[in-house]
Amino acid sequence: MTVPLILSTWSFGQRGNEAAWPGLARGGHSIDAVERVCQVLEADQEVDSVGFGGLPDSNGHVSLDGCIMLAPNRCGSVCNVRRFMHPVSIARQVMEQTHHVMLSGDGADAFAQAQGFMPADLLAADAQDAYHRWLKERGTVDQSRDKGYSAPRPIDRGASRGQPNDGARAGRLFFHPAPEPPPGRSRDDESKWKGHDTIGVLCIDAHGVLAGACSTSGMPFKLPGRVGDSPIIGHGLYVDPEHGAAVATGTGELIMGVCGSFLAVELMRAGQEPLEAARSVLQRIIDNYDVKPEHQVALIAMRPDGQFASAALRSGYKSSVRGNQRNEVVEPDAVMLR
Ligand code: GLY
Repeated sequence: MTVPLILSTWSFGQRGNEAAWPGLARGGHSIDAVERVCQVLEADQEVDSVGFGGLPDSNGHVSLDGCIMLAPNRCGSVCNVRRFMHPVSIARQVMEQTHHVMLSGDGADAFAQAQGFMPADLLAADAQDAYHRWLKERGTVDQSRDKGYSAPRPIDRGASRGQPNDGARAGRLFFHPAPEPPPGRSRDDESKWKGHDTIGVLCIDAHGVLAGACSTSGMPFKLPGRVGDSPIIGHGLYVDPEHGAAVATGTGELIMGVCGSFLAVELMRAGQEPLEAARSVLQRIIDNYDVKPEHQVALIAMRPDGQFASAALRSGYKSSVRGNQRNEVVEPDAVMLR
């Protein structure tokens, strides 16, 4: 596999890949590329699972998570950010400017402010509409499928609340009638919400340096305070310069119980190919959880030589690949459940 190379989760990742590619192709660093990919999606209000435009928590407020990683001793993370659009960049500042790995909530917002980030209102008009429909209908939001976002286009529009949405409005959310909750579960139990679409990115640059990043608004309409896998090192993302990198997307609760990304890298360290490692993580999830129809988890695993693979619990997931000879959206190499 030739380098440089960028791998992103979901087809909307292609928009970020496009923006990051020119710098990377000129010899830029993988850490800048993964940050750029996430920044683009964080500013894109059409993407309802990341940054501005992300679906809010059950209290109507958007909260964001993100992380970035070069190596076990070079990583940063923030969760429950409520006043700033770019958690990935705040996470990078945590990595570069502090002795800590992770900041949360008010502390993360205060840190971002002190670092000079511009505060932003994160609730886009469409996400607010979706929230009001959710309050009324309490139906299942199906975000488990890749919705085939349109081809890459000029990005980072610096969108702000109330700006007209130039994307397809219809068809992004699929509301189904709410199922009866199982005994002992309330209708508000988020487990009935279908999977969602964290942007996760892995990159290897022309210097052979691996980097990864994640950014998400988390599970739609989640309980305030809930944190998923994405900002937690080893769960949503792990990078070991010697042995490889992995990134996960989907239902965080399933990924967290098996330390999904760390496990994939450890399996590569033990000699497994990327595909075998990604499949093993998903099998571990299947073996340990009562996997429900609404659950989705997908992983991308990459070795330091650029060999990579992706696998998903269910069909509907896609990855975006950008390399010297490739710029495409691809199906996963394995789907575990049919
Ligand atoms: N995978 C993102 C989340 O569960 O929050």
